[in-house]
Amino acid sequence: MKFFFRRGIMSKILIISYSQTGNTKKMAQAVGEGVKDAGGEPDVVNVEDFGDVEKLIGYDGIIMGSPTYFGILAAPLKDFIDRSIKVYKQLDGRVGGAFASSGVQGGGNETTIHSITQALKVHGFVMPGFSRIGHYGPAAVGEADEKIISECKYMGTSVTTLA
Ligand SMILES: Cc1cc2nc3c(=O)[nH]c(=O)nc-3n(C[C@H](O)[C@H](O)[C@H](O)COP(=O)(O)O)c2cc1C
Repeated sequence: MKFFFRRGIMSKILIISYSQTGNTKKMAQAVGEGVKDAGGEPDVVNVEDFGDVEKLIGYDGIIMGSPTYFGILAAPLKDFIDRSIKVYKQLDGRVGGAFASSGVQGGGNETTIHSITQALKVHGFVMPGFSRIGHYGPAAVGEADEKIISECKYMGTSVTTLA
């Protein structure tokens, strides 16, 4: 089994999300700012616009965001993950993370985050947990406020540092 590490160059981090009404997108942009703050190169992309999943191989880190739909990730992001089978066994060792938005408190943000990180683990990702912010990743109820935006930046910075 071989692992390939990109050394001495800026970490390329993909922040890919689905967002129908903008709440998750706002979080994605803040995660991207955190990546930049840590000296990484962020690509903030809507899942519908990503194109061929083979491009995933070019990233050192991949962070996924979704609104909570019935307690789990939204179907367009799940479809993207299912299509990523094309690059199965080629993403081992990448650094990952997840964030979510819900309509109500207790509406399923944590289960949504877990539904994403479960899939990333199957791909062989390494993922940090957090003691200083939401432990599994940033979780917003409705539009992210200042606190959640700073959590999103923190996660972007952490994932980039680890990558
Ligand atoms: C089909 C559907 C299912 C939803 N299911 C839940 C849910 O289970 N729990 C919850 O708190 N909010 C639920 N919501 C609300 C969204 O998660 C919430 O409005 C979210 O902030 C939308 O994110 P967006 O602006 O990025 O699209 C649901 C919304 C839709 C459209």
